[in-house]
Amino acid sequence: MDIFWFLPVYGDGPYLGSQVDSRPATLSYLKQIAQTADRRGYHGVLVPCGKACEEPYIVSAALIEATERLRFLVATRPSALTPTFAARLATGLDRLSGGRFYLNVVAGGDADELAGDGVFLDHDARYAHAAEFFTVWKRVLAGETVDFDGQHISVRGAAVPLTPVQQPHPKLFFGGSSPAGHAAVAEHFDTYLTWAEPPDAVAAKIADVRARASAHGRTLSYGLRVNIIVRETEAEAWAAAETLVSKIDRAAVDAAHTAFRRFESEGQRRMTELAARDDLVVSPNLWAGVGLVRGGAGTALVGSARQVADRLLEYRDLGIDAFVLSGYPHLEEAERVADLLFPLLPVTAPPPAAQTAPEVAFVSPFTGLQPVRSAS
Ligand SMILES: Cc1cc2nc3c(=O)[nH]c(=O)nc-3n(C[C@H](O)[C@H](O)[C@H](O)COP(=O)(O)O)c2cc1C
Repeated sequence: MDIFWFLPVYGDGPYLGSQVDSRPATLSYLKQIAQTADRRGYHGVLVPCGKACEEPYIVSAALIEATERLRFLVATRPSALTPTFAARLATGLDRLSGGRFYLNVVAGGDADELAGDGVFLDHDARYAHAAEFFTVWKRVLAGETVDFDGQHISVRGAAVPLTPVQQPHPKLFFGGSSPAGHAAVAEHFDTYLTWAEPPDAVAAKIADVRARASAHGRTLSYGLRVNIIVRETEAEAWAAAETLVSKIDRAAVDAAHTAFRRFESEGQRRMTELAARDDLVVSPNLWAGVGLVRGGAGTALVGSARQVADRLLEYRDLGIDAFVLSGYPHLEEAERVADLLFPLLPVTAPPPAAQTAPEVAFVSPFTGLQPVRSAS
């Protein structure tokens, strides 16, 4: 199992929906979390994107030197970038980190926020755009000089001479639960990520994506994004869950759910539906209380170490091998999860970083010659 942690690039604290004892996302705080995850043997950290987030490419670049093996799973909305520029960001982060960079492709679900970025594509068009975008992105990272005329993307002579460490390109994760999302991941991306729904629902999603991928002759890997509330005993864990939501009032829940229902996101619709239930325990040890006010990953596995480990192993048996975990506050909970859960799970240690980036026979642009791609 590759276990990732989460970088709260919009800040965090011990209570959901409250400023009490909250912590801003300073570089110092994010560095402490990243270094804890690195030291404890997490494979990587997911760095989310959005208008309230410190930009994940920048955060990850700032933390490369502070960490040794930790991978950065950088969320990106392709519609806010061009594919050639995104490929340059990718190869830059990959080379400077010694191959410790992955991308989490997210189309985005908030039309208002996307409009603020100048993106007016509708839900399914965002996936059609992403498909063209990553067709170009992969080709330039493979060393091609690309001319492309699509419905959404056009480039002439697009090229990225600096070769990424990870060949043919850094791994592409993907999050999206709609039919258009499943179609996109099946054809273009490597790892399908889902927020934690009950195991039977997750199994159905995996079966759908797997069938679509095999129609393209492709095999994907699968990942689960879930919060963790683990303690020595089950009773302590449920008490911690109650404390986490103890400062939320009904009006805050209503306001959050009104906002979530406006989103063009099947994944968010499914999370909000779970958090609107009277009984928030939606399957054994799976609690939808985080989704009372938090968008995105709204469920948590709550229980003793043995219970939470067993639930994670159940998801593993469905075909999941990447687990993106989190807990509040993220610094202390990264330690606690490693203390209590890692001894009970087959955690795969991340490989060391590459010490050198592929060489590029680079001719100075001042000579008027083009840079030449190395043969590696
Ligand atoms: C694991 C996971 C992580 C995500 N992270 C982000 C993120 O960082 N920023 C963002 O805007 N959307 C994020 N999303 C949401 C996707 O953008 C969202 O699922 C999509 O816009 C709506 O897709 P759907 O209708 O196919 O579910 C994430 C989704 C998943 C499953």
